[in-house]
Amino acid sequence: MNPHSISKPLSALKAGPLKGRVRVPGDKSISHRALIFGALATGTTRIRGLLEAEDVINTARAVQALGAVAGKHRDIWEVRGRGVGGLRAPEGPLDFGNSGTGTRLMMGVVAGHPFTVTMTGDASLSRRPMRRVLAPLLEMGLEILEPGKETLPLTLKGTHELMPIVYRLPVPSAQVKSAVLIAGLHAAGKTTVIEREATRDHTERMLRHFGATVATEAKGEETHITVDGDAELSGKDILVPGDPSSAAFLAAAALIVPGSDITIEGVLTNPTRTGLYLTLQEMGGDVTFENSRDEGGEPVADIRVRASRLKGVRVPAERAPSMIDEYPVLASIAAFAEGETRMDGLAELKVKESDRLQATAAGLAVNGAKVQVEGDSLIVTGASGLKGGGLVATHLDHRIAMSFLTAGLASEASIVVDDSTMIATSFPEFRPLMEQLGAHYREDGR
Ligand code: S3P
Repeated sequence: MNPHSISKPLSALKAGPLKGRVRVPGDKSISHRALIFGALATGTTRIRGLLEAEDVINTARAVQALGAVAGKHRDIWEVRGRGVGGLRAPEGPLDFGNSGTGTRLMMGVVAGHPFTVTMTGDASLSRRPMRRVLAPLLEMGLEILEPGKETLPLTLKGTHELMPIVYRLPVPSAQVKSAVLIAGLHAAGKTTVIEREATRDHTERMLRHFGATVATEAKGEETHITVDGDAELSGKDILVPGDPSSAAFLAAAALIVPGSDITIEGVLTNPTRTGLYLTLQEMGGDVTFENSRDEGGEPVADIRVRASRLKGVRVPAERAPSMIDEYPVLASIAAFAEGETRMDGLAELKVKESDRLQATAAGLAVNGAKVQVEGDSLIVTGASGLKGGGLVATHLDHRIAMSFLTAGLASEASIVVDDSTMIATSFPEFRPLMEQLGAHYREDGR
């Protein structure tokens, strides 16, 4: 996000029934990976449906600064890569804006190159923990030029002599898993990441598609993911499915606005990403996957959602990795359900673009909901509606903004978010798509 941009408060107004068929833009996780693997491949990668949001554009700029050619021709993004370990030193710092994914995945790339790179980001990103990625990469041979520093800006030096490692993830993070696997492509030998809880597996799927050898093996409670080093990737065609984390706002809105009936076409339904949809069904939401199919190695479906009477449920901690970005919107609509919705195992929510546990609870409280934070759990007690009328502090967090701009469509009084500019980091089409379905928003100067 442009650090000099002026914040734009926005109000969500009470909406009539939401209706229609829409498509959401491409999945953010897959878009970052397509650009990065395209840059590490030889030959040309053609990407259809790339998400053109600020986070992903910053990754495109980073791979360009490292010598890959990336640009859009007609509707297709093309990346001409330089091969694994073949990127060149950038002339200046790489600015990742608001994006933890871009930063952490690119740290895995930088680790495998024998030059110095400075990585920077906005105020939110500069507060986020990087130690979780740096720790395994330092073991492999990466250097931090100011040892002990663990937040951006960071100046890092990689090497062509990376050591393969076996790394047990201390936190369930696809970003950490991916950074280690990406570094592992450059190492001499096999690098293994061990995970206890399954996290999104787009890196594994896409690396195989690009020709890397990636083995996934279940061992008791754990999964061992092993990538062969000295890898050679070759340019491929990629089709990016619709982002289920963006579709989540539309689906949630349709559930709470009476009379709604919408279909969101071509949404990614990879089981490592669909925890929210399962939870909405358990709450009594009329959510169905239609026309399920495979597109470019990922499962997709059209998701139909009709307004429903919701009831509170307990969302188990084990489900958190498959819906980690969706808790703010789930919590915001849990206020419309009857009874208590208890969401457990939310420690990771505290280190996202904001402390989402606190930001979500505060946004709900200021709008009259009954909400409690108990350790790593969030408990919302619904009263078949939300009063609204409150001003939500978004803390530079796109998903906090969009969650309350969703809840506000059905609250008694309108809900205002203090800023909406950062929505462009992940879902620039949020407002026009919601409006296409029948929602109304108003710029709000208060
Ligand atoms: C992502 C992984 C998740 C998620 C983020 C995207 C990815 O982060 O919150 O929006 O693309 O790998 P963590 O890996 O830190 O949980």
